[in-house]
Amino acid sequence: MTGRFITIEGGEGAGKSTAQSYLAEKLTAQGISVMQTREPGGTPLAEAIRRNLLSLDEEAPVEMAELLLVFAARAQHLSKVIEPALNQGQWVLCDRFTDATYAYQGAGRGLSSKHIGKLEALVQGDRRPDTVILLDMPPEIGLARARARGALDRFEQEKHAFYERVRQCYLGRAAEFPDRYVIVDAAQELSEVQKSLEAMIAGWSTDV
Ligand SMILES: Nc1ncnc2c1ncn2[C@@H]1O[C@H](COP(=O)(O)OP(=O)(O)O)[C@@H](O)[C@H]1O
Ligand SMILES: [Mg+2]
Repeated sequence: MTGRFITIEGGEGAGKSTAQSYLAEKLTAQGISVMQTREPGGTPLAEAIRRNLLSLDEEAPVEMAELLLVFAARAQHLSKVIEPALNQGQWVLCDRFTDATYAYQGAGRGLSSKHIGKLEALVQGDRRPDTVILLDMPPEIGLARARARGALDRFEQEKHAFYERVRQCYLGRAAEFPDRYVIVDAAQELSEVQKSLEAMIAGWSTDV
């Protein structure tokens, strides 16, 4: 039996990590074996790539290098962590995945979504998330939350227009893939966000 592959998407400070822990707790309480991971990252090599991608004091990668590094980390993560877990029946909760590549490297940086699609097919084959949870909110709110949390990384220092493009790309993909996407209004109070997540889980137990 294959596990469910759930990815959590949204802008900086949208509440992805918070939602991930909450979902892990709820699913574990239902007796489901859950693995939590994140992108870029999830293996030692992929985490090393992540540090380079987020770093401000190293040489910044050119856009194409950034895209290829993201997919290099993803290839490693899929092969070493995600596929084995799913094949063992574990559910995988991943903080960001390929939808983030379309949003950040595609809409954000301006790289072609056709190129991204080719890399997606090359690296992932047919593997796609079963569910993409989009924590949607105006970028200013999330950035204020991220700022309150601590120093900003290379992505968090981008300009407003960049984040607006990222948000619109996510919403566009949600409209394109309505069966896969669940949109949550992440500007709500945490308790309301949690209610939306619980309603989503409740829907799953009846759709088997
Ligand atoms: N719905 C919410 N309302 C207010 N604050 C929130 C909410 N969700 C998360 N936070 C807080 O906002 C900050 C960013 O949340 P986090 O889960 O780390 O976001 P992300 O992982 O998307 O960057 C954290 O301090 C978190 O406690
Ligand atoms: Mg986070």
